[in-house]
Amino acid sequence: MFTRRFTWSLDDNALTRAAAARRAAGLPLLDLTLSNPTRAGFAWSAETLAAAFAAAENRFYAPDPRGLLVAREAVAAYYAGHGAAVSPEQIHLCASTSEACAWLLKLLTDPGDTVLVPAPAYPLLQFLAEMECVKIAPYPLVLRDGRWRVDAAALDAAVTPRTRAIFCVAPNNPAGAVPDVADRDALRETALRHGLAIIADEVFLDFAAETADAAAAAAAAAAVLPTWAGETAVPLFALSGLSKVALLPQAKLAWIVTAGPAQWRGAALERLDFVADTYLSASAGAQNAAGALLAAAPAARAAALRRIAANERALRDWCAASTHGPALLPREAGWMALIALPKGTDEEASALYLAKRAGVLVHPGFFYDMPPDAGAFWVVSLLAHEADFTAAFPAFEAALLRH
Ligand SMILES: Cc1ncc(COP(=O)(O)O)c(C=O)c1O
Repeated sequence: MFTRRFTWSLDDNALTRAAAARRAAGLPLLDLTLSNPTRAGFAWSAETLAAAFAAAENRFYAPDPRGLLVAREAVAAYYAGHGAAVSPEQIHLCASTSEACAWLLKLLTDPGDTVLVPAPAYPLLQFLAEMECVKIAPYPLVLRDGRWRVDAAALDAAVTPRTRAIFCVAPNNPAGAVPDVADRDALRETALRHGLAIIADEVFLDFAAETADAAAAAAAAAAVLPTWAGETAVPLFALSGLSKVALLPQAKLAWIVTAGPAQWRGAALERLDFVADTYLSASAGAQNAAGALLAAAPAARAAALRRIAANERALRDWCAASTHGPALLPREAGWMALIALPKGTDEEASALYLAKRAGVLVHPGFFYDMPPDAGAFWVVSLLAHEADFTAAFPAFEAALLRH
């Protein structure tokens, strides 16, 4: 009756069960994995949203595989603000970046093909690939001086005759790494050598970390990280959406920029039109609101960036003060933090202890496909409420003492 293209993992994992049990028992739970900005105190005002979604054009249905021009122009302006010349003709609108990934897998792969994904990275890609009958193969990022970098040799060695594309999560979630010039060159060279496309997930592009330098910190909210969207050498798709850029996951508007060599781009765009036309999933409301929402997005992000920086400072101070020797990994961007646990700590057992005994929710590193030799980690969201972090530190100490 039901497909066997993927395994139906319908049971909750032990951590989710532990959190649900605490909630059901009416016990408090400090959720340090909270990644939903609308539940973290960053919901837009009802008035601003009502005004953005009030366009008279919302009464009409104007299907276009790439989406309404007015919205694509707003997205092109967003990239101009990031220093990349992107034409509205290079843009396809859809409901989410997850959907964008699925469309690209339909465009690029056949059943049984493989796509390369970085490790660590957020776990969604595995499910998206399996649903398209595609396998994922990890290429390890390596920790060099506390920063995750592409291992060019390992990346190239991961390619097989069935490989079709390389995912680049830039900035990486949860590792917070922004690919540097050497990383980008390694990805480009491998893609060109083997005739592969790069799929660059840039949803965290506007969440650059504060730098240590106080003068630079003042300008942090305006820091612009490099985008792949202006790429001309290698076939490439850059993805993003309002979910992170404007902290509006409920708006359900995302996009694909088809970049790369002009001749290839034409062939890719025509075929992507075919896929997009089959779904036409971006709503008129979200598309007509895109200009206003993107214009107001920097202000919407400012409060979140302040919370992220404050939580990171508190976490760093706790690590420095703890007698157990945890360490906060450097973060270049994004809103997740990796806490490297002392040697010998069991990341899963300690996370379960925190959830069950102390009512503190963190993710163990293996949820994000952390390379096994990288050590043990807790992964936390810096978007979580500041008071929850401070309240959790004694529980962290207790967990490290026991595990
Ligand atoms: C790196 C990254 N890309 C994409 C997504 C999915 O975003 P969307 O809400 O647009 O599907 C997430 C969700 O957390 C993410 O972390």
